[in-house]
Amino acid sequence: MNKDAPIGIFDSGLGGLSVLRRVREELPSENIIYYADSAHIPYGEKSLEEIRKLSLGVTEFLLEKGCKMIVIACNTASAAALKFLREEFPHVIFVGMEPAVKPAAEQTQSGIVGVIATAATFQGELFASVIDRFAQNVTVLQQPCPGLVRQIENGETDSPQTEEMLRGWLEPMKEKGIDALVLGCTHYPFVEKTIAKILGPGVQIIDPAPAVARRIKFLLGGEKLLNENPQKGRVAYFTSGDTEKFSGMLEMLLHEKGNVRKA
Ligand code: DGL
Repeated sequence: MNKDAPIGIFDSGLGGLSVLRRVREELPSENIIYYADSAHIPYGEKSLEEIRKLSLGVTEFLLEKGCKMIVIACNTASAAALKFLREEFPHVIFVGMEPAVKPAAEQTQSGIVGVIATAATFQGELFASVIDRFAQNVTVLQQPCPGLVRQIENGETDSPQTEEMLRGWLEPMKEKGIDALVLGCTHYPFVEKTIAKILGPGVQIIDPAPAVARRIKFLLGGEKLLNENPQKGRVAYFTSGDTEKFSGMLEMLLHEKGNVRKA
């Protein structure tokens, strides 16, 4: 495998961009192909079987493009398909997302932490195993947020309606005494400001993206696959949905004009 080969990153839509921006900070020389499966969003309201099929299709696409690693920048797809994809492609390096319950459990003083994610993420074996491994001595409050991914996809990151929805989910968790909140969906960092406003300074918000970026660096380093090119890497964007809509959102969320193609 070639060191200059791209890293493939995918999500059901825009959420994975919250991971992509951290990967670029950590590994600026890497070339990246980002795939947004926007035609099938939201994954979080589909069956695990359906999500597995969609993730398989996207993975095949990225492997055909010569990616040296696949990053599943979607908690829902990781919950439904990471294990399956690793079995299907034993020679491919996969990195998935798992809710960051471990750091939350380590940091909490109140002994109560919250996780917000999609319904499908909470159903997967991965979440159960995270709770088993890291949350034996803490209470974990789980809160699905139906409709929030759609709000973010529609650019409603700062709208009063989105804030209202978030209040409905977060205020009861705050009343129950959480002092850490795990963002268990890669879309949610794009509404982190509003979440922080609702929860106040006493609740730590945990976005696992920086840790995932460091893990990617560690794994590529271990395989001698880090791109050593001094130039800045290129990012190519593909979407199965509307390219214009994706370009507009890319500009809004990452402040950049990207090269977006229809997949
Ligand atoms: N970004 C995906 C995640 O991390 C959103 C899932 C969806 O499409 O519902 O879970």
